[in-house]
Amino acid sequence: MEDRRAVADLSRDEAAAELDRLAAAIARADRAYHTEDSPEISDAEYDALKTRNAAIEARFPDLVRPDSPSRRVGGPLAEGFSQVRHAVPMLSLENAFSDEQVHEFDARIHRFLGLGPEAPLAYTAEPKIDGLSLSLRYEGGRLVQAATRGDGETGENVTANARTIADIPRQIDSAPEVLEVRGEVHMRHADFAALNARQAAASAKTFANPRNAAAGSLRQLDPAVTAARPLAFFAYGWGEVSEPLADTQLGAIARLARFGFVTSPLTRLCDGPDEMLAHHAEIEQQRATLGYDIDGVVYKLNDLALQARLGFRSSTPRWALAHKFPAETAWTRLERIEIQVGRTGALSPVARLTPVTVGGVVVSNATLHNEDYIAGRSASGRAIRGGKDIREGDWVQVYRAGDVIPKVADVDLAHRPAGAELYRFPETCPVCGSEAVREPGDAVRRCTGGMACPAQAVEKLKHFVSRGAFDIEGLGAKQVEAFHADGWIAEPADIFTLEARFGAGQITQLKNREGWGEKSAANLLAAIRARRRIALDRLIFALGIRHVGEAAAGVLARNYGTWGDFADAMDAADPGEGLEWERLLSIDGVGKVLAASLVTAFHQPAERAAIDRLLAHLDVEPAAQPRSADSPVAGKTVVFTGALERMTRAEAKARAEALGAKVSGSVSARTDLVVAGPGAGSKLKEAEKHGVAVIDEDAWIALIGAG
Ligand code: IVH
Repeated sequence: MEDRRAVADLSRDEAAAELDRLAAAIARADRAYHTEDSPEISDAEYDALKTRNAAIEARFPDLVRPDSPSRRVGGPLAEGFSQVRHAVPMLSLENAFSDEQVHEFDARIHRFLGLGPEAPLAYTAEPKIDGLSLSLRYEGGRLVQAATRGDGETGENVTANARTIADIPRQIDSAPEVLEVRGEVHMRHADFAALNARQAAASAKTFANPRNAAAGSLRQLDPAVTAARPLAFFAYGWGEVSEPLADTQLGAIARLARFGFVTSPLTRLCDGPDEMLAHHAEIEQQRATLGYDIDGVVYKLNDLALQARLGFRSSTPRWALAHKFPAETAWTRLERIEIQVGRTGALSPVARLTPVTVGGVVVSNATLHNEDYIAGRSASGRAIRGGKDIREGDWVQVYRAGDVIPKVADVDLAHRPAGAELYRFPETCPVCGSEAVREPGDAVRRCTGGMACPAQAVEKLKHFVSRGAFDIEGLGAKQVEAFHADGWIAEPADIFTLEARFGAGQITQLKNREGWGEKSAANLLAAIRARRRIALDRLIFALGIRHVGEAAAGVLARNYGTWGDFADAMDAADPGEGLEWERLLSIDGVGKVLAASLVTAFHQPAERAAIDRLLAHLDVEPAAQPRSADSPVAGKTVVFTGALERMTRAEAKARAEALGAKVSGSVSARTDLVVAGPGAGSKLKEAEKHGVAVIDEDAWIALIGAG
């Protein structure tokens, strides 16, 4: 470390000698830290050693020592990142794209809180940074953990990497004992351009945009690589705190700034929707010159006590809104229309485009939605785009908003090539040849081949291993396609018999595949084994039943509790009638379409048998207890009826759910409690009939301990 000359000035021999010294120094530090538990140098000194090592290796790649510290990861993260369960979930934001939606957001909050439309409410408005969110946990003022958002409940432990980011204090003074700071890791435009230039010069991977670069840099197994990447961090919120930071959002952000965090200088307090929209326009005007990517403006109700009353929906707070900037567009040639077959058999038309840059990202595919969209009409038969149809060879406008799949928005008939033919949507599945039918009322044409259709089978498998489902490390979409093509796996159950079929521990076949080695093959089998134990909500989502998304799977899991109870109920339910059907429908978040889809799937013999084959390999964890498991109403089914006088019905329902209760719209023998206000009628009678306890609003508030 005595030699701090610029890497660019080092001769080859000097570089080789310094790499030797660095390897020895880092090995000693690793031993002291990990094995002897008594670090000899500070984290900063250690990071500096690894950063210098990485920089010299980048300049002299042929001098990289076989035992280089950059090839080893000292800590226990060698196999990937460990998982961190967030003390407070990391949520996402509801999106708005129009001024009306912003007014509606404000009006909805007034209604929820039972305020007249004229009652003034203040909101903060600040840029929505286009990066990735990070939660930083401080205990006694020391940074003890940094975690990515992950699925919102559980993220990846990237503490060592976060420690290398200059904007992130490692130590803060006079902070609450526990403080979780949340914000956005991002990369500034100039830093992004310089990084890509360095990567290109070293023939290393370049990044498509600053956000990818930031994500790729943060999720590095070797913190020295992160340290060498120019990451920045804006703090915009908090998770668990042992004492409140302030009474208002603005006050809390000011407090974070005093702790040493960078907060957005563009944060303003606004008096209502008009001021919010004016600030949105102002930020949008500055967008191109800010020096980092933003994709909208976030509004947050300023009063934290009111934020607490509003609470959360399943994955978004009711008190915040992301007002996105309009989508970016570009014109290009539609070369071909291809049909993809999804896991539910849907035939989806995809536009293959002459690549074009849309808002900084190269786009070569875009969705065309369905056959009506191509024909220029909506599902109800009304003309869209003035009735213009889309043909292969057309000059089309591509539209991209945030993360969503790009869309073809418009077509320019003046540029239509002579002889372009009307597109005929296929009536048979392009993959298996089965008939593709369109049910009345469905916008989508579907292949009738079921699991016999290779496309459906493979898409179902991809869904099964996807992130919110089984999320098997080392078994992504690409591997699933290859394994399916070779006949190794035809249905989810086959994943769990892979190891046995090759003979326990016999992984020769796997490791002989291209791209697989002994270690990756062994890792895959271990990852599969680890997933034999699976959470109920993940399992329900993984089944890939139409209309059953992650949120619905979570609600179902919490309501039925165990796989046995869930499966028994689905088996026993008759679509459209009976007790089990009513119970399913009484679940908040389960509508008729979803319920019918679920019950139908369980009643299809082939599908049911495939589920049984899968379950034979699994040990299903019962649904996680609500975080509020100790509340007196956790797990209870509650019905509100009549008028409530101390809060709106929406707030009462939201609070009950936040305490782990299930709120139902109808009284049955399964109801635990009816909260009745003035004017309650038939539900009160039902409650008497079933012997269900009835209390008034005051007793309810006393019970849940809210004033
Ligand atoms: S507040 C409880 N403020 O946007 C809600 N989020 O689309 C917490 N983001 O996951 C989010 N800038 O990663 C908030 N000023 C800002 C933000 C911001 C960017 C990201 C964040 C979040 C995502 C939701």
